[in-house]
Formats: sequence, C-alpha cells, structure tokens
Amino acid sequence: MSYFGPKIFIDLKRLSNNYQLLVKEIKDLSIMATVKANAYGHGAIEVSKTLEKEGVRYLAVFTIDEAIELRKAGIKSDIFIYSKMDPKRIDEAQKNNLTLNVSSFEDLKTLDNFSGRIKGHLKFDTGMTRLGVPFDKAEEFLKKAKKISSLEIEGLYSHFATADEGDLSYATNQLKKFNKVLDFANHLKIKAKFIHCSNSGAILNLPNSRFNMVRAGMLLYGAFPSDDVPQDLSIEPVMTFTAPVVEVRDVKKGTLISYGGAYETKKDTKIAVIQAGFADGVPRPWYINGYVLFKNQKMKITGRICMDQLMIDIKNSNIAYGDEVLIFGSNDNGTIDINEIAEKIDSTSYVIVTSVGIRPKRIHKK
Ligand SMILES: Cc1ncc(COP(=O)(O)O)c(C=O)c1O
Repeated sequence: MSYFGPKIFIDLKRLSNNYQLLVKEIKDLSIMATVKANAYGHGAIEVSKTLEKEGVRYLAVFTIDEAIELRKAGIKSDIFIYSKMDPKRIDEAQKNNLTLNVSSFEDLKTLDNFSGRIKGHLKFDTGMTRLGVPFDKAEEFLKKAKKISSLEIEGLYSHFATADEGDLSYATNQLKKFNKVLDFANHLKIKAKFIHCSNSGAILNLPNSRFNMVRAGMLLYGAFPSDDVPQDLSIEPVMTFTAPVVEVRDVKKGTLISYGGAYETKKDTKIAVIQAGFADGVPRPWYINGYVLFKNQKMKITGRICMDQLMIDIKNSNIAYGDEVLIFGSNDNGTIDINEIAEKIDSTSYVIVTSVGIRPKRIHKK
C-alpha cells in the first residue's frame, strides 16, 4: 500500500552514534537511557533495542505499562520506573524485573508489606519539588529504608530543576544538598550501586554531578536540552520530519492565506500546500517566524498552520507535486534544529518531539 503524507524518519544509526559520543564523554560511568513517552516520540521498542545493542546499562520509562511493553518486546535490560510507586502493582513490577522509584515514607510502608524482594532507587527532593523525600527528612528516610528487608537499595538519586540554564546557582545548591544526602547514606553504611542525578543539562553543565551513572534523554535523541549548555558533542538529530507538496498555485500580490487571513502576499508569487499540520506535530505558533527547507532553501510558512496542512511561499522555485520538504531534523534538504523552533515559539525541544501525532508514518532507519 502506498503512503502519501507526513513522515517521521527515525535514524537509529544516529542514535547509536549519539550514544557512543556520550559514552566517550562520560568514560566509564553507566548510562540510564530515558525512553519514557515512547522514547520521546522516537519509538520506545526500536530505541531500546538499539541502545541495548550498544550496551546501555539501564533503561528508564515513566509507567509500569511502558516497561511491560518493553518486556513483551523482548527487552532484557534493567528498567527503572520514574513514576510514583503504585502500591497495587508491586508484584507485577517484581515479576517483570522492574526497579521502583522509592520516593516517600508511604512507599516504604508499601514495601514493608511486600513479601517478595524488589530493587528500588531512593529519590530525594533537593529543589525540584515534584517527587522525592524532602531534603530535611532524608536522614530519617534512609534509616527507615535500610530496615525494610523487601527492598534492595540499588540506587540513590535526585533530579535537577534548572541544570540546562545559564545561571547554575540553584542547580549547584541542589547538588550540595544531594551530596549531603550521600554523606548521610555513607554514615549509615548504605552502599547503593548507582548514584545518579544528571539529566542532559547537568551532564553538560555540571560534570561534577555525574557520580557513577547519568540519566540521559534528549542528548541521545540528538538535541541539546537548551542553548545554555556547552554544545561540543557532535550529536545529530535522530528524528526527521518531512511532508509532501500536494498543490502549487499562482497567487497575486495582496492574497490572504489560511485561517484568519493573517498573512498577505507582498507580491505575485507561488504558494505550495504541504500535507502536514498541527495534528501531525507541526508546532502551530511556528507560523509566525517559521519556514521549511527544500534543497537547502528556506521557504517561509505563510499564514496559520492548519490541522492537516500548511502553506509556504516558494517564489520562483520549481517545487512540484510530491516533492518532500523538511519540517525539522536533518536530511538532504538541510537541517532545521528543533531548538531553533523551540526558541522562536517559547517552547522546548522536548515538547516538539513528543508532540508528533499518530498520523505521520514512522520509518525506522537502521
Ligand atoms: C527524572 C528524570 N531523569 C532524567 C530525565 C532525562 O532528561 P533529559 O532528556 O533532559 O536528559 C528525565 C526527563 O524528563 C526525568 O524526568
């Protein structure tokens, strides 16, 4: 069956390369690869299989269901669950060899009532104010956790709120608190195998927060978490979004284009209709400054992006029905960095990749 419409190319070779670049950067430390939310829209099963081949030490998803999907697909690696512990699913987690997030005193109670034994990483809140034991309760928590025989304390961790920003004072303070937590643990002779608190931003901005494991996500997918991190790693975007031209029309100067007539042509020109819209994942606010690329030429998006289509000004170029333009990523037509889009629309690269809809055909390139 032929397919004509938006396409998402997932380049697994680039994923492997990005992974190996990270390995080179962090040397002998372990990597926990974040593959939650369908691997940030890249396909959790394909991404996990690729990273497993590359030798990843741990995978991390958000929900138990995401982890079970990976197990059913044959993924054998350790899998960590980021979400709040679900007391009703501890058995299931153990049966699937999953590692739990232990982030509150209630979690300890749940585990105390569990008759089996399960691996857990203890989470400390050092400033994110999301999940995690408050810093001032850390010592008490560690003491209690140590006594729970069903719990194997495999990891100790925390999460940064601002590690990808230019001003690192808040993150540095979080790191100080986490180091204090590690002191408490040492004192109590709790020897966890893995200590981790670095996401992509911290890996680059705060190398002394790497401990013996990093929790990488966005870097593996080939984008920097923000423009405020060193960008020396030559990572490449794993996801590339293309869409076909479905119509080319001549229009006169003064023609209004798309909903609201928000764009008016300045002179006689040619407009191409592209089959991809915000339902497919083209960020709608991008129409104000946005463009697509065709043979390295920028073609301005004209007027509001519709649900399924958008229009571009192709001027005199001879783009024709069926030609594919680049929406973002990198291919023969050039490169559009999702961080450039993110910056222009006051969003983030994370939002852009995870907003790709279900309609574009996903093509995994090995
Ligand atoms: C707890 C936790 N650790 C690590 C990551 C990975 O972050 P990044 O994609 O910035 O590397 C995430 C992602 O949101 C996360 O929630």
